[in-house]
Amino acid sequence: MRKLVLAVLAMLAFTRTVSAETWPAHPITIVVPFAAGGPSDAMARILGEHMKQSLGEVLLIENVTGAGGSIGVGRAVRAAPDGYTVSFGHLGTHVANGAIYKLGYDLVTDLEPVVLLPSNPMIIVSKNAVPAKSLKELLAWLKSRPEPPTAGTAGAGSGSHIAGLYFENVSGIKLQYVPYRGTGPALNDLVAGQIDIIVDQTSNSINQVRGGNIRAYAVTDSKRVPNAPEVPTVDEAGLPGFHMTLWSGLWVPKGTPKEIVAKLNAAAVAAMADPAVQKQLENLGLQMPPKDQLTPEALGAWQKAEIAKWWPMIKAANVKVD
Ligand code: MLT
Repeated sequence: MRKLVLAVLAMLAFTRTVSAETWPAHPITIVVPFAAGGPSDAMARILGEHMKQSLGEVLLIENVTGAGGSIGVGRAVRAAPDGYTVSFGHLGTHVANGAIYKLGYDLVTDLEPVVLLPSNPMIIVSKNAVPAKSLKELLAWLKSRPEPPTAGTAGAGSGSHIAGLYFENVSGIKLQYVPYRGTGPALNDLVAGQIDIIVDQTSNSINQVRGGNIRAYAVTDSKRVPNAPEVPTVDEAGLPGFHMTLWSGLWVPKGTPKEIVAKLNAAAVAAMADPAVQKQLENLGLQMPPKDQLTPEALGAWQKAEIAKWWPMIKAANVKVD
């Protein structure tokens, strides 16, 4: 019996080695936990297009939405650990969701970190009908509303929702959250004047700001975004210290062979080093991660540090999810 067990284990080890050596042998799926047309979807598609060159297989984007991104992350967590399902996520899905939902999976122990991706500050934007020309005027207008003003989000625990909670804390203004399946659809409603504001990823709103279809008031950083120099920082505009960086990353299911993680990491790092990809992402206000933060271990350490940083504020908000 013992010989049989050892033989089976040896076969399994051999199979995993062979699969890692021949990986990828068919297209890879990147699960984006928000709707098409939003910032997560955009970044995944830009990077995936270049990663195809390194990996020799197409990277298919699968938008699996709902519950602040936790439905999509769950889909990736439960996939086979064979390198063919990759979880795209960020501060909201791979940090905040753990403080809000009973997830049925552990964001740290059920996933393997692959690589930290570009980041951007949030940007405070409103519908054009708001009669405010500065952040101070916007705050006064929001405070003057008879009902809590509406803020679009990508659902409880999303980056735009966490940014809204943080905004409420620093401004003292209560918001009424309007959840969407991503901030792509939320932005459409802001342009249409259906909601009042979004504290959005800069990369999502910046083109509508440039087009004059929404108003921008400040970015949540201590320095202006190079490709949006006309938008002041929160320090300049009147909410000093309201700093928030929305970073993204890639993960795979726990148990994915290290060789496959390394190949995925190398392909993503090559994409972020490509000048044309950098130009596309920086034009959206995104910044590449520091070169010394590009290992899987660096993402793992960063995610744990961000959990320690954000969970107290999120839990104190006592967010109710049905
Ligand atoms: C978020 O608010 O979490 C994201 O911006 C949503 C998205 O990428 O659509």
